Amino acid sequence: MNEKYSLNVDGRTHTVTADPDTPLLYVLRDDLGLNNPHFGCGLAQCGACTVHFNGQPIQSCVTPVSTVGEAKVTTLAGLGTPEKPHPLQTAYIEEEVPQCGYCINGWLMTAAAFLRDNKKPTDAQIRSALQGVKCRCGTHVAILRAVKRAATMMG
Ligand code: FES
Ligand code: FES
Repeated sequence: MNEKYSLNVDGRTHTVTADPDTPLLYVLRDDLGLNNPHFGCGLAQCGACTVHFNGQPIQSCVTPVSTVGEAKVTTLAGLGTPEKPHPLQTAYIEEEVPQCGYCINGWLMTAAAFLRDNKKPTDAQIRSALQGVKCRCGTHVAILRAVKRAATMMG
């Protein structure tokens, strides 16, 4: 049976009506029109659906809307804007990372949380932090360059 939920997403409060088991990803995309989190695997295996949950990256495809409660959810739209981009967004453009672009949301959201807590990461630390995110276009080397560039910008 559907329930009403009040969600804090990108600093705004939204009220939605949904079945408790509905993945947060579906609510973000279908009810709130926030299309940066993507459906990839639906099984917490690819990272395409990553959002921040109180600042920590989670896979929204396996997060029931009923478990969100008062948590602050941040999507890529809340990370930066075209006028004031997050350093990772700037670095992705400067390093010309994207191919098809489907995976970008997962890399950026995962890397943003990592760089916030790791100011001078090694290559091995970056690889370890991002190991759960997949790119079928093979942009991994460019992604590593971009994350390192962003780390320098943020340091
Ligand atoms: S769609 Fe959520 S991890 Fe793949
Ligand atoms: S750029 Fe196409 S899946 Fe990563």
